[in-house]
Amino acid sequence: MSNPSLLILAGDGIGPEVMTEVQRIIAWYGDKRGLNFDVSEDLVGGAAYDAHGVPLHDDTMAKAQEVDAVLLGAVGGPAYDDLDFSVKPERGLLRLRKEMDLFANLRPAQCFDALADFSSLKKDIVAGLDIMIVRELTSGSYFGEPRGIFTENNERVGINTQRYTESEIDRVARAAFELARKRGGKLCSMEKANVMESGILWRDVVTEVHAADYSDIELSHMYADNGAMQLVRAPKQFDVILTDNLFGDLLSDCAAMLTGSLGMLPSASLGAPMENGRPKAMYEPVHGSAPDISGQGKANPCACILSFAMALRYSFDQGAEADRLEAAVESVLASGVRTADLMQADGGTPASTTEMGDAVIAALDASL
Ligand code: NAD
Ligand code: IPM
Ligand code: MN
Repeated sequence: MSNPSLLILAGDGIGPEVMTEVQRIIAWYGDKRGLNFDVSEDLVGGAAYDAHGVPLHDDTMAKAQEVDAVLLGAVGGPAYDDLDFSVKPERGLLRLRKEMDLFANLRPAQCFDALADFSSLKKDIVAGLDIMIVRELTSGSYFGEPRGIFTENNERVGINTQRYTESEIDRVARAAFELARKRGGKLCSMEKANVMESGILWRDVVTEVHAADYSDIELSHMYADNGAMQLVRAPKQFDVILTDNLFGDLLSDCAAMLTGSLGMLPSASLGAPMENGRPKAMYEPVHGSAPDISGQGKANPCACILSFAMALRYSFDQGAEADRLEAAVESVLASGVRTADLMQADGGTPASTTEMGDAVIAALDASL
């Protein structure tokens, strides 16, 4: 049987820096665990624009459709800020999500014990935190029509449309309920049904799916603005949070700081199962290209490494190896090796991106 295939799209800014560490970990799995992947690499975002004049070449899109999983670093950066909207780096990422139909974006926020002191919140608020945000990723205001900048009554008007169909809500709700069943059995759905019709439909459909097939799960509903407040006030009340594309973008960045740093948060973007039973999938850190620190060896590679752990779990049925990699990251943090984003101003010399990768590989070796 051939090896599972991985397409690596490292992208821009710190994307290639953190992805280099993941590639060393992929090589480690081949050498030490006999777990080999057919890895290919290609361009996305600004890097693709520089080479091809588009943020995602059609050939790259076609490759992404064929592989077992895509690993993406990050896209964007100030060099591309003035480009026409249609060719901005972010459009490359959005095209991948849309055309691969990756509707369920899993963004786990877990506070490792070693980092509980580091969060900007009090230790007892975040210690032991383990929540999963399920963000709808292929619809809502990111893709709804009409959209654009138009002229009306001699002034410009910018339009985006929040639009959800019943089936779009149904499928992402089912993905979230399934996860809740494997986790703590609780799901909180967040929208703004108090002001948005799409929120009313969201709440109705989630309630119907629950009644039909998931009545064993404890379901609650919350307005998303209250949800943001509750995430900071008492985040451990949540198990799975289900929300739409735009609210999920905001709430997951907020949840990132509960774990200590945006540099810690991985994600899995999953679609429907392919012929081989595996879901279409792309794995990407939640953070962006971090232009303020790129090229300096400062980036925390953990979010990208933990995204590969999610690939092991959700695409390759290697749950035990995913546990091994997560435990390796946790033990490195516990040993005090940390990148600058996880250190207090007087905390000593931070580890570089490469040193963090070295330490994770040493911890993997030690786990054998
Ligand atoms: P960002 O996530 O790139 O950075 C926000 C802050 O977090 C910065 O201070 C950055 O230094 C820090 N940070 C992020 N990742 C880090 C890491 N791994 N280690 C240490 N520190 C880290 O968000 P931004 O500055 O708003 O956006 C920059 C660019 O990235 C924009 O072009 C944006 O569109 C793009 N972006 C891309 C993605 C993606 O590719 N998935 C996600 C978010 C933003
Ligand atoms: C994310 C990012 C993206 C989003 C951008 C870069 C398109 O912020 O993955 O969270 O808004 O979804
Ligand atoms: Mn975001």
